[in-house]
Amino acid sequence: MSYDLIVIGSGPAGYVCAIRAAQLGLKTAVVEKEKTFGGTCLNIGCIPSKALLHASELFEEAGHGFAAFGIGVGTPKLDLKQMMAHRAETVAANVNGVAFLFKKNKIDSHIGTGRLTGPGSVEVTAEDGTKTTIEGKAIVIATGSEVTPLKGVAIDEKRIVSSTGALELDKVPGKLVVIGAGVIGLELGSVWRRLGAEVEVIEFLDRILPGMDAEVAKQSLRLFQKQGMSFRLSSKVTGAAPTDTGVTLTVEPAAGGAAETITADIVLLAIGRRPFTAGLGLEEAGVKLDGRGRVETDAHYRTSVPGIYAIGDVVAGPMLAHKGEDEGMAVAEIIAGKAGHVNYEAIPAVVYTYPEIASVGRSEEELKEAGIAYNVGRFPFTANGRARANRTTEGFVKVLADKETDRVLGVHIVGAQAGEMIHEAVVLMEFRGSSEDLARSTHAHPTMSEAVKEAALAVDKRAIHI
Ligand code: FAD
Ligand code: NAI
Repeated sequence: MSYDLIVIGSGPAGYVCAIRAAQLGLKTAVVEKEKTFGGTCLNIGCIPSKALLHASELFEEAGHGFAAFGIGVGTPKLDLKQMMAHRAETVAANVNGVAFLFKKNKIDSHIGTGRLTGPGSVEVTAEDGTKTTIEGKAIVIATGSEVTPLKGVAIDEKRIVSSTGALELDKVPGKLVVIGAGVIGLELGSVWRRLGAEVEVIEFLDRILPGMDAEVAKQSLRLFQKQGMSFRLSSKVTGAAPTDTGVTLTVEPAAGGAAETITADIVLLAIGRRPFTAGLGLEEAGVKLDGRGRVETDAHYRTSVPGIYAIGDVVAGPMLAHKGEDEGMAVAEIIAGKAGHVNYEAIPAVVYTYPEIASVGRSEEELKEAGIAYNVGRFPFTANGRARANRTTEGFVKVLADKETDRVLGVHIVGAQAGEMIHEAVVLMEFRGSSEDLARSTHAHPTMSEAVKEAALAVDKRAIHI
């Protein structure tokens, strides 16, 4: 079998690449080792976690939020089995959707593990060991990432779980210890706290959400603490041992010092993800990796071997589904002889907790480090009429604009629906807009988004409602 393009991996990067390539008339095949398409994101990542985040937020609202609106529902009863069925149904609908799109676009799928076996050739090993070789003029590696392990903390997906196990617990743990105050720790920690677990988060650094704007991280930490999550910052876990009843962990100050023992029913290890390239035959094929195990590429996603490209979590950049999707589109266009491109200055990042935390562009720390002079405009949701009506006054919007040109360099939002609101900033930045452009764009009243306009007005110290 011979193709114009073979894509290895059907996650957001791979499946979008395959669809775009097929749209452009390339004869395309996808190789996927799992039984369903969609990769980490659709099967065990973005989609199931959002299904549980939404359901658990409704549960918490029913228990603690409705009364203030004059709605009495008594004490809500948790049906975890049904909540998990909702999660599974959501996943199934999405992964089946990808299978449908492959058929619609006449993309061939080969189920099995792909390995590069020579120029333009990929060997596919099915679960029963059967091997097939397919040929492609171009090959795109989109094999994604896997959980970063931690010495002394062996994942069994029962008591010591990764995000995969944490999405499938069959009962609410009495106490959940989360290792790592990053995106997964905060999202899945929130799910289980809302459903009744005591949640303690242990973080190596002296802050949560490294990489995000420090003011945003500080305010968010306070909000999570107010919700009942507890944090041990500047601490490291040096071991976790399953016992008959749970897990015993040893924790030390990050800088060294006396170890302490704590216990948990469940431990979630969430200290990051690393590129997944095992068994691909990269070394034999001559595909170079960088010092962090990522496939090295140039600005056109070309690896060190002509005809082999790489995109998504397996290459440098933020490990985000939408970053991979856009790289998928860009590389398909490049392979088809067009000008594919991704603007890495305007990739949003969203943490889907309550409130949501969303950002695009640079943080204040990054601007300071780059020596770029900037103006800042802030606006709190406590001063937004819609937020008051909705009782969602937590958080704020911050707009960072170049001091000389007024070009918007970063926007950071902590607030309900921040993940939706951030996109006006993304589009603005894509068009290299200024805070003046944002401030002069009419925003419907009453909306949470008016806080974005007010923060833009605040850049020039002329916010109206504060
Ligand atoms: P993947 O989705 O990892 O897909 C790679 C695919 O390649 C897999 O299907 C794998 O089976 C297959 N594969 C690997 N090797 C081979 C081989 N040799 N042969 C055949 N097939 C192979 N990102 C967001 O943007 N928003 C979110 O809300 C979000 N939530 C997340 C929640 C969790 C719990 C996790 C773990 C991640 C989350 N992410 C989120 C990150 C997101 O899932 C990844 O950035 C995204 O899946 C990366 O896409 P990818 O296509 O590069 O790789
Ligand atoms: P992360 O990189 O977001 O956070 C890991 C955290 O663990 C960091 O705060 C880090 O300082 C800490 N840490 C590292 N080593 C440690 C140690 N030994 N002890 C204690 N803490 C330690 O990684 P996470 O949460 O595992 O998520 C992986 C990736 O998946 C994210 O970086 C993101 O790219 C993606 N993701 C995206 C989501 C979204 O977009 N909403 C949701 C979930 C995951």
